[in-house]
Amino acid sequence: METNRELRGNAPIGVFDSGVGGLTVVREIMRQIPNERIVYFGDTARVPYGSKSQETVIRYSEQIVRFLRTFQVKTIVVACNTASAYALDTLEQDIDIPIIGVVRPGAKAALDVTRNGRIGVIATEATIGSQIYTEYISKLNTNVTIYGKACPLFVPLVEEGLLEDPVTDEIARRYLAELIDIDIDTLILGCTHYPLIRSTLGKIVGDRVTLVNPAYETALELKSMLQSLHLLNDDPPGLGANQYRFFVSDKAEKFVRFANSIIKYGILSAKAVNIEEY
Ligand code: DGL
Repeated sequence: METNRELRGNAPIGVFDSGVGGLTVVREIMRQIPNERIVYFGDTARVPYGSKSQETVIRYSEQIVRFLRTFQVKTIVVACNTASAYALDTLEQDIDIPIIGVVRPGAKAALDVTRNGRIGVIATEATIGSQIYTEYISKLNTNVTIYGKACPLFVPLVEEGLLEDPVTDEIARRYLAELIDIDIDTLILGCTHYPLIRSTLGKIVGDRVTLVNPAYETALELKSMLQSLHLLNDDPPGLGANQYRFFVSDKAEKFVRFANSIIKYGILSAKAVNIEEY
């Protein structure tokens, strides 16, 4: 990959999502590469992306990339499955810094773990409709079959905090029944929110099915990409160095509450910005 010569290891990583969900990716990046600085943007004013058109998601994603670049980020992580499915190809075409999404790392990991070649993908309507997981996986291996299932109710359930709740159990049972009947042995959690209901999903599909978390796989891929480009930060930010910065397009307080429920590092504040200006 050709990169801008000015890039420096101690520059931040830009991460974005349609809202709070991308924090599951941030959490994995913090674990895998704790020295890194992160600037996160959650598009809380325009969430959900999962029910929007491709043109709209591309326009939103381009605005966010312009905003993140004002921080001289060294790379961008599209921490949203829907934006990765709809906008990554377009973003890649006109950017001179490395950019990665969450779909490819998740797809690769699923291929590594499947034994019977029957892989299930659960995600938003947009991600399933785009067939992006099927496209990537069948490019790498034509002997596997991908079964997609849109699960639109999971995002609001997670945002309502119903992570372990009989209502979530029941809805998950209904969504997953057909994938269980088809005898999948691997299930990709193809939406940022789903790792937060991993234990419910695992209980329903049973031990025979391996769950793949694209958030985790993306953090690993990011680490190896930065390593190979000599862009890891080997200068750990000191106390008070503003290592993690959070921006949203609306409702900063609500974002901070949710963020603190899933990330152990105390997130003190998020700043609201008018993303339409970018
Ligand atoms: N972040 C989105 C995704 O991973 C889920 C929420 C939305 O629909 O915007 O697809």
